[in-house]
Amino acid sequence: MNQFDLIRVIPKAELHVHIEGTFEPELMFKIAQRNQIEIPYKSVDEIKQAYNFHNLQSFLDIYYAGANVLIQEQDFYDLAWAYFEKCAEDNVVHSEIFFDPQTHTDRGVAFDTVILGLKRACDDALEKLGISSHLIMCFLRHLSEDSAFETLKQALPHKEHIIGVGLDSSEVGHPPAKFERVFAQAKAEGFLTVAHAGEEGPPEYIWEALDLLQVNRIDHGVRSEEDAQLMQRLINEKMPLTVCPLSNLKLCVVEDMSQHNIRRLLQKGVHVTVNSDDPSYFGGYMNDNFIAITQALNLTNDEIKTLAINSFEASFISTEQKKLYIDQVNNLFQ
Ligand code: HPA
Ligand code: ZN
Repeated sequence: MNQFDLIRVIPKAELHVHIEGTFEPELMFKIAQRNQIEIPYKSVDEIKQAYNFHNLQSFLDIYYAGANVLIQEQDFYDLAWAYFEKCAEDNVVHSEIFFDPQTHTDRGVAFDTVILGLKRACDDALEKLGISSHLIMCFLRHLSEDSAFETLKQALPHKEHIIGVGLDSSEVGHPPAKFERVFAQAKAEGFLTVAHAGEEGPPEYIWEALDLLQVNRIDHGVRSEEDAQLMQRLINEKMPLTVCPLSNLKLCVVEDMSQHNIRRLLQKGVHVTVNSDDPSYFGGYMNDNFIAITQALNLTNDEIKTLAINSFEASFISTEQKKLYIDQVNNLFQ
């Protein structure tokens, strides 16, 4: 089997995808019309032309604008269902999905509307597609600590449907330390924790995510390579990094895919995984990410296998479930 056939058939988990970032222009138009909301684009082509980013912020401005058309529970259902259909195509059998409640509650959409729509799609994905999932609620780091505490409070009645909390949005200038107390409370309430760190921000932010937020995984983390001591810690602790290659390319974190460090990180022994981040905006879902790095970096079948196994090991599913999925991966190589 060549690498590209393997990428198609190998089971994988996705651990870093923002549901608002899976919003395809076609669905955006449909929901905008349904809710009678004006969007500043005349066509799908015009939307796609706006997806020309030069850094994280230039993307976030457009990403938040797109999310404005989401109002009803059905909108959140349709958004998540469309993503699960992509998972089925890519043989993503488990996904841990970020959502940004503040993007919606700040516009007057109830927390319950968001979570109920997403949860119903997750239930249907399991029943109809056999895809398991978890939801991870992210705090927007450009907003205040108070706003994050308020969001955590709103999540408590839905605790059984939310496995963890995360931290996203504009990284530089909003270090993990800003949310140390919120994360401590979230942990005390039983949530697992992750945080975006070291995407555009410096290695110091990764140290803070580890030491102050006590995260279970680092989202992105590609800048860890600049700090040898940090690299050693990540390796020693088998700390997962949820790396998003096409995102890094689109947001100019790397100039060219041939310069991406994911293969080097893997070879040095860091527990890296491959993910799509905001696939509708960055030009591809899970398999497109695998294909892009395989083409640019000449990944071997063995490395693709390790990345797939890493994705299950780094996930928040039970040990038994991990074993079942990893056995499925190993069976491909019998
Ligand atoms: N980084 C930070 N915040 C985000 C991202 C990202 O890649 N995607 C959606 N929100
Ligand atoms: Zn992200």
